[in-house]
Amino acid sequence: MQKVSDVFKEKEGREVALRGWVYRHRTSGNIVFLVLRDESGVVQVAIKKDKVGEKAWEKANDVYIESSVKVKGRVKKDERAPGGAEIEASDFDIIHRGEPFPISKDLSEEFLLDVRHLWLRSQKMTNIMKARGLIVNYLREFFDKKGFYELPPPIITTSGCEGGATLFELNYFGRKAYLTQSSQMYAEVFIFALEKVYVFAPSFRAEKSRTVRHLAEYWHLEPEMAFFDHKMNMELQEEMIEYAVKNMVENHPELLLKCGADAEALKKVKAPFPRMTYEKAVEEVNARGGKMEWGEDFGADEEALLTADLEKPLFVEKYPKKIKAFYMEEDPHNPELVLNDDLLAPKGHGEIIGGSERIWEYDKLLERMKEHQLDLKDYEWYLDLRKYGSVPHSGFGLGIERFVKWVLNLKHIRDAIPFPRTINRVYP
Ligand code: 4AD
Ligand code: MG
Repeated sequence: MQKVSDVFKEKEGREVALRGWVYRHRTSGNIVFLVLRDESGVVQVAIKKDKVGEKAWEKANDVYIESSVKVKGRVKKDERAPGGAEIEASDFDIIHRGEPFPISKDLSEEFLLDVRHLWLRSQKMTNIMKARGLIVNYLREFFDKKGFYELPPPIITTSGCEGGATLFELNYFGRKAYLTQSSQMYAEVFIFALEKVYVFAPSFRAEKSRTVRHLAEYWHLEPEMAFFDHKMNMELQEEMIEYAVKNMVENHPELLLKCGADAEALKKVKAPFPRMTYEKAVEEVNARGGKMEWGEDFGADEEALLTADLEKPLFVEKYPKKIKAFYMEEDPHNPELVLNDDLLAPKGHGEIIGGSERIWEYDKLLERMKEHQLDLKDYEWYLDLRKYGSVPHSGFGLGIERFVKWVLNLKHIRDAIPFPRTINRVYP
């Protein structure tokens, strides 16, 4: 049994056997033209009445889009056929005819989301999911080469990491618990034995906003490194992004093209990335026609102003302490700022990474947690980490779907994940 992609490598006249699904189907007199798809691609099959048995001919006329089928035939080189070859069938059979497929042309986005379990078979979604898988592989490969360990965090927790507003609460045998917002605090646990680690797990955010870049459930890659300062943290981030993008551009140009990515633009994504302080970024936003004050956070519009004509992602660093999470180390030169960075993707794709140096001393952390009015009993274990052999450390979180959205140039983040969860969708 061959695969569709083999057909294009085979010589004229070679006999092949394929199985897959009917992608397109039309009859023209005594020929059925059928486009067959499998995991590896699509190929045209010509089934001629006088070249196949009577049964096979009947069946070839009796399929639906998405019926599963088997074909035998010879490779015929043809310049006009997509990929330069087609199959001239000698035999044809149906595995499962099924029912008429509910997806045809010109259906609304909402309908396609309702039948997401079927729409995932489309060439569009298939290509995106292939690319997503490769991107994740390259990210893992990067950390593997650097000597990082991967560990699994818990998903059900009692301590929020990024503020109470977006926590999903659940009833845990009568006690209050949450779906994790970020696995960072658990990644911090691991560095005291393994030094350089990452966790790759879903994070959950009860985001009430309907935007093209917010999911309620997303995949989060969170490296954490002992003895790394703010600067080393940013250098690791840009090296990681460069590695994954470079490998996609060099090894999968055709797939990128099919996904609608701008491979030429991606070739320019090389470290170092530009860096700008928060303060400077606010000035830039205002200079470019935006309107914001020191102490406000950037929204989608402001991020778009900052990154509209960039070729590489932009680091915005050293935000006001008052708008950032409790665990971030203070800037030694200015107690109002923290040693953090947000990495903004070019062309308004928005923030793909949030990272920081962490407060590593017990007294400072306790004080900051009190300022943030956290319920200390939920965080005792986290404070413990600063009691026994604490070390300076840093880490960051990359939102996989945000990254995929930028690399593949997708309009909406929901297409970067098979089953998007948003404020108005939890089915299928
Ligand atoms: O900036 P965030 O909230 O940072 C953290 O959670 C840190 N604890 C990470 C760390 O230091 N280990 O989230 C990190 C990234 C964002 O930059 C964004 O890419 C992604 O997670 N993200 C989302 N992606 C999709 N939908 C959402 N609702 C997201 N919220 C954050
Ligand atoms: Mg952030």
